[in-house]
Order: sequence, then structure tokens, then C-alpha cells
Amino acid sequence: MLCYEDYKQAADCILERAGFAPEIGLILGSGLGGFSECIENKVEITYGEIPNFLRSTAVGHAGKFILGTVCGKKVACMSGRFHYYEGYDFEELALPSRVFRLLGVRALLATNAAGAVNKSYKPGDIMIISDHIKLMGASPMRGANDERFGPRFFDNSHTYSPELRAIARQEGEKSSLTVHEGVYFFMPGPQYESPAEIRAIRMLGGDAVGMSTVTEALAAAHCGLPFMALSVMTNMAAGVLDQPLTSEEVIETAKRIEGPFEEYVKSILRRI
Ligand code: HPA
Repeated sequence: MLCYEDYKQAADCILERAGFAPEIGLILGSGLGGFSECIENKVEITYGEIPNFLRSTAVGHAGKFILGTVCGKKVACMSGRFHYYEGYDFEELALPSRVFRLLGVRALLATNAAGAVNKSYKPGDIMIISDHIKLMGASPMRGANDERFGPRFFDNSHTYSPELRAIARQEGEKSSLTVHEGVYFFMPGPQYESPAEIRAIRMLGGDAVGMSTVTEALAAAHCGLPFMALSVMTNMAAGVLDQPLTSEEVIETAKRIEGPFEEYVKSILRRI
């Protein structure tokens, strides 16, 4: 288990290499790492160079920190995130948000690829996450609590910042993309869900399903870091259409909307 000093050491290394303090943190999801291309005056640090950091193994995830400026804002961007299905424990997945907290960012914005459970959504649509459902597994905050991050028992009613979501909704109206707001249902993967699981998720109130983001959201809520996440509907969830799901479809849809999605994320960044 990492302790406060371990996270601090990771953050200090990033700050020293970057030579500046970032204002906003970004975590880019599967097939959505292209956003890092629009970062100017880049400093790149591979995860392996950062003490106590985890290693990214997922396809479509580069595995590096990219620091620089976008739309005049100083950003620290994780291109490549960590997932439970890679073999990490939930407790280990608290790391990114805690490091962002110690970098001193005022907001953390995550993107992800997700399957559309809500039948009125279409591939290529965006969903601003309003809330999540995670019924399985442990919490990233399980185990000894460090009060320097947050209290033992912590609130989860504003995990997805209402202020940041309002900005995302307003910018969504101006975007060429179709932007919804809804509930993200966490599933552990790496298998895609069964059609029966998707029917159950729909009955339980999930609008989209994915294998990431919720651990980062919980760790951000614990340490009081304003958090927001955007899901790209890369496919209709299992059983909605009579066709198998593939990771190629996920990456292809993410690539298809890359341009407008980049513009959308930038329009939000300008206002944070
Ligand atoms: N299920 C889970 N994770 C996903 C999906 C899906 O359908 N699409 C992209 N990530």
C-alpha cells in the first residue's frame, strides 16, 4: 500500500520535470489519447520514470504524463489510465487522483469510452456523467485512512461537480456532437457485458457502461478535488444490436468523433 509520502514523491518528480504547476488535470480514455496532440510546449514523462507510479498495459493507452498548455490553461494530462481489469487492486487505483491533488490542480477532467445502455443514445454521442453505480468490489479508499487526503467516511452526493457539469451542458449545446447527461455503470471487465447484464443495468438506472473512471471519481471525492467525466458512446451495449462487440469498434468510433470531441473538451477547458 502506498502512503502519503509515496504519492508526494511522485507529484514532486512531475512538478520538478515540468517546471510549472498545472491548473487542470486530464485523464484520457481508450482511443481518446489523441487530445494530447493539441497540448503546446509539451513536457512528456513516461510512467516508468515517476517513482511509485503504476504502469499502463491497456491497448490504446500510451502510458505517459504530458504537461503543457491548452487554450492558455496549464494542464497535466495522463495519456493512458489504469483499470481494475489490468490486475490492479481497487486500492492502487486511488493513485492518479491523489497525485493530481498533490500537483495542485483545481479540477480533474476524465474521458472514457463506454457502451450505450440507454437506447435513445447513439454511437458517437457523448454522456456527461451525472452519477455512477458501482455494485461490485472494494473501494479505492479501503484500508487505513489518511486524513491528509480526506475523512474515513466521505460524501458522494457531488462526486461529479455540479458546476463543471453545468459548463459541460452549456458547451454541449454549442457543440456539433449530441451531448446527454446520465448515469455510468461500472463493470469490472475485461469481458464486455452479457446481454442479460445490460438489461439488468438498464433496469437499475444505468445509461452507459464502462470499465474505468469510477475509482478516479471516488478518490477525487475523498480528497475534495472537483471532478468531471465525459463518456464517448463508442458502441451500443451488448444485446442492443444483434452483433458482437469488439475493441476495434470502440477505437474506430472514438477516432471518428476525435475532431469535434477535441473542440468540445477545449471549450470546457477554456471555462474552468
Ligand atoms: N462495455 C464496457 N466497457 C466499454 C464498452 C462496453 O460496451 N464500450 C467501451 N468500453
